[in-house]
Amino acid sequence: MGNIIITIDGWSSCGKSTLARQLAKALGYVYIDSGAMYRAITLYFLRNHINWADVKQVKSALKEINIDFRFNKITQQSEIYLNDENVEYLIRDLVIAEKVSEIAAIKEIREFAVAQQQQLGANKGIVMDGRDIGTTVFPNAELKIFMTADIAVRVERRYIEMQAKNPNVSIEDVKANLQMRDYIDSNREISPLRKAEDAIEIDNTNININDQLSLALELANKKLQKI
Ligand code: DC
Repeated sequence: MGNIIITIDGWSSCGKSTLARQLAKALGYVYIDSGAMYRAITLYFLRNHINWADVKQVKSALKEINIDFRFNKITQQSEIYLNDENVEYLIRDLVIAEKVSEIAAIKEIREFAVAQQQQLGANKGIVMDGRDIGTTVFPNAELKIFMTADIAVRVERRYIEMQAKNPNVSIEDVKANLQMRDYIDSNREISPLRKAEDAIEIDNTNININDQLSLALELANKKLQKI
């Protein structure tokens, strides 16, 4: 069977990465978390005190950034490396989440990330999740999924996930962060979060992870039969 490109876009914390990871595993595809790239860039900018309002500083900082994904045999997951350092866990911190949407709205940063994302999908056989994957990164992808869920459900899911790492985080902080990111991500000038015209919407407010995977696999298999 041939390979296709599957894009999964949608709002923050609506389960995109869970579905993308499972789908990639079921199909034997590579999974790429594009949000992790923007998070890793944010980590670099914060650590190195880069002023992202200054284009010159942004451009020279990007020259120092090398991002790649490596498969961890123990966790059976692909993990992101920033200049050879595994930052998969560091980038999930709320400190990063508070700045990432601002940084991801910058033209030079998007060009840098999108070029790498397109390179990663050059041989197809990939599931990539993010905000602009079906609209900008792979506008010709064979299967595009757009995910959504009620805000209360999304806040609850992200809160449980963050509590495990940092028990001091409050549900109010998590909600404020999700709402702020959704606002910036869908209102920025370049590649705002949009449902591509040919994307299929999955609202997972009331469906469980297994049903969601079955639905997506059915969609993928239909596309695979046509190529
Ligand atoms: O998927 P995530 O929550 O880890 O993404 C972090 C941020 O990165 C998100 O708030 C917006 C930005 N992002 C983006 O602008 N474009 C993408 N393709 C993926 C993420």
